[in-house]
Amino acid sequence: MVADIQNLNAERYSNELFDLWANKESLNTSEAYVLKKYLIDTTKNVLEAGTGGGRLSFQIEKMGFSNGSAFDIVPEMVSHAKKRASKTNSSVNFRVSDAANLSEFKSDNFDYLIYLQQVLCFIDKEELFLKALNEAYRVAKKDAIVIFSFLDYESKFYNPMLSTVVNTLRKFRHEKISKHHLPWLKINNDINWKLFNKNQPKTYWVTRKKIIAQLMDIGFIILESKNANQLLSDNKKGKGILYIVCKK
Ligand SMILES: C[S@@+](CC[C@H](N)C(=O)[O-])C[C@H]1O[C@@H](n2cnc3c(N)ncnc32)[C@H](O)[C@@H]1O
Repeated sequence: MVADIQNLNAERYSNELFDLWANKESLNTSEAYVLKKYLIDTTKNVLEAGTGGGRLSFQIEKMGFSNGSAFDIVPEMVSHAKKRASKTNSSVNFRVSDAANLSEFKSDNFDYLIYLQQVLCFIDKEELFLKALNEAYRVAKKDAIVIFSFLDYESKFYNPMLSTVVNTLRKFRHEKISKHHLPWLKINNDINWKLFNKNQPKTYWVTRKKIIAQLMDIGFIILESKNANQLLSDNKKGKGILYIVCKK
């Protein structure tokens, strides 16, 4: 059971991807870098979107933060995160919510907002993706820091054959799906052979220019925008996940 049965990515996380994400623990290098750089004041409160089994929120708590909240669209993930929290005496407040509709959260409420692991790229409808960006802005306090990461279309590995097959199938089926919405190529490190089927969950791959314009339109101030390979070095050409840090 998922909060929104129409959300095929949520279904994927409650099924095939549950075990992978429910029990993860440590941070990767990019996450450690952005969290350490921007989460400075441990007296402030934090909201994490798409928490899965709570990994990032537990790590943020270990950094000294004691006022954390986190949500996920998949109820099973939230129950699992709550169980982990009770075993470790964590005070993170976990709840079920959809990033595109945070009506349970008050406006102007959080100092730090964490949207890592490309959580918004699992929203495959553009209007809901935009709604989620607006919701992040709404629940953030003035001067809040919001850390996003996105799948980056411009640094995506391009497989011409696969692309031709996917596009031909879409044309043949009269599916009006943008080239930025792509099926999952792999699930749990195995090739996803269902990727050619109709009505598959899709991931949204942003372009830097467009996402920055969208964030600025909403009112965010962009503090940093770098690909994973640029966070720790001065590589000119960006590659990998796109990290964008904003201020409200
Ligand atoms: C890649 S996992 C990351 C989990 C966790 N943040 C971590 O880093 O260990 C993405 C998570 O986002 C959740 N998710 C996907 N779409 C969501 C949405 N619209 N609202 C809230 N959570 C969502 C999934 O259920 C999944 O748990």
